[in-house]
Order: sequence, then C-alpha cells, then structure tokens
Amino acid sequence: MSNIALKIENLVKRYPSVLALKGISFEIKEKELFALLGPNGAGKTTIIRIISGLTQPTSGNIYIFNKSIFNNPIWAKNQIGIVPQTINLDLELSVEENLLIHGFLYRMSLDQIKKRIEELLELADLTFRRKSKIKELSGGMRRRVLIIRALMHNPKILLLDEPTVGLDPHIRRKIWSFIKNIQSNGTTILLTTHYMEEAEILADRVAFIFSGKIIDIDTPKNFVNRLGNYALDVYLQNKTKTFYFKSKDEAEQELLRYSKKYFVSLRRVNLEDVFLTYMEKKK
Ligand SMILES: Nc1ncnc2c1ncn2[C@@H]1O[C@H](COP(=O)(O)OP(=O)(O)O)[C@@H](O)[C@H]1O
Ligand SMILES: [Mg+2]
Repeated sequence: MSNIALKIENLVKRYPSVLALKGISFEIKEKELFALLGPNGAGKTTIIRIISGLTQPTSGNIYIFNKSIFNNPIWAKNQIGIVPQTINLDLELSVEENLLIHGFLYRMSLDQIKKRIEELLELADLTFRRKSKIKELSGGMRRRVLIIRALMHNPKILLLDEPTVGLDPHIRRKIWSFIKNIQSNGTTILLTTHYMEEAEILADRVAFIFSGKIIDIDTPKNFVNRLGNYALDVYLQNKTKTFYFKSKDEAEQELLRYSKKYFVSLRRVNLEDVFLTYMEKKK
C-alpha cells in the first residue's frame, strides 16, 4: 500500500465577503501528481496558501505523512516547496543568487547550497544562464528558476500554482516535461490549473473544483471514458451541441446524418468535455 503524502480534511475558508472553501477533502499518494482543475475564483490558490502556511483556514485539518501541519509548522515548512502563481524572484539578482538566498532562508549550509544549485541548474537546463540576472531571462526560463528555487531544500512535496499561465504553447510543453521529470525523481506534486489539457497530460488524478467545492476526483482516463470515446460537435445556428458515443460506428452514423444540414466535427473525448458537461448540469 502506498503512503499518503498529503491529506486535506474538510477545509473551510471564510473571507469577510465570500466563503472561498466549502469543505475541501482529498488525499495525495506519495510520488503522485494530483491536479486541482477549475475556473478562476474556484479556490485553488487559497488551498495552496493554506497548505503553505501563508493563511489560516477557518476550519479543517491538513496532514503531511500523517503529521498535522498546524501542530508541526516548522517541520511542515521544510517538507514542501512552493511555486507561486506570480513570479516573485528578485529581478535584479542572478539565477544563482536567487537560489542562494532561498538556501539561507531554509538554513542550509553553504556546502549543501552549492551542491544543490549545481544539481538543479543541470536539471532545469540553466547552467549556462547561472550568472544572468532574472530580468534578462525569458518567461519560460523564469518559470524554471521559480520551480528549482522551490526545490532547493529538497522538499518531499511540491506545490505548483498555475505553473504555465501566460506562456507560449511550445514553452508550456517544455515546462510540462520538466514537471514530469521532477515527479519521476520522486517528488509528490500538487498542481493547480485552469487548463484542461495541462491536467489531462500531467496528472495521475484530477479533482474538479467549482466555487470552493470539489465535484469529483478520478484519473483523466476514467473521467473521459465515463462520457464516451468519441465526441461529435454539431455547429447549430447560435450554439454548439456535442454528442458522445462509445462506438465509432455509431458516431460516424450520426456524423453522416448531421452533416447533411450542419457543420460537424468528430474527435476524441477530452477533459474539456467533462468540464463542460459539469457546467451544463450546474445551469
Ligand atoms: N485575500 C482575500 N480576501 C478576500 N477574498 C479573497 C482573498 N483571496 C481570495 N479571495 C476570494 O476567494 C475566492 C477564491 O479565490 P482563489 O483561491 O484565488 O481562486 P483560484 O486560485 O481558483 O482562482 C475568490 O472568490 C476570491 O475572490
Ligand atoms: Mg489562483
């Protein structure tokens, strides 16, 4: 049986004007990559901030390897690495200097710091830019620095809040393989995203979150299979209607029928379909 790296239990967060989290529970297994997928304002960053100790929940519990983070805050801080949604590196300092400062903040020795910087620059393919100031780097490189900074103190769990927001498609793909690589080195990862494709490609399991509540948790594959294998989009006058089919034959028959009158397209089902189906149900 695999260990539970992170357990979130009935988390509630009330801001004066909004109930941001309405009882969030989930568990992440060791070495798993778990994605919280949901629209802006769903509560993803609030969950990350609470796990990081940056804000207190109104109620609820969080356990890292069965230890309460609220009873062991300093220990907990060392178990997690945090990659915030907005890049908060020191733009005037070099890549190396940013990593060094983080090492000192986590009370690492200079020897440990130097060794770890070498390893991480190598991992992120950034050794050749070690002396560059952050302000001289591209968006994709800054993201990679942000991620390896979080890994400096060798955390067991990495929290990634919207790691590819605002990046070009080819750079996003580079970051994705970088994240997968980190997971395969043994790190447990909690990732938040509002990109369906990102969750579908990266995550072992996905939790759909809408307005402070988790609607459902499963593997991307199971979510998709529940709807069907094939999706037929029919472009009606002022909306698109999508039909789902298990069998290709059936899908192709319908395709023929609708194509006499409308624009149609047949494709594989993806996580976006699952998301849109939930939205439909909510109306
Ligand atoms: N510091 C804050 N004070 C008041 N409301 C907040 C604060 N932070 C977030 N919220 C509200 O909580 C909800 C969830 O926000 P957030 O966790 O940032 O969502 P997400 O990261 O999924 O976009 C939103 O309605 C947001 O406006
Ligand atoms: Mg957010």
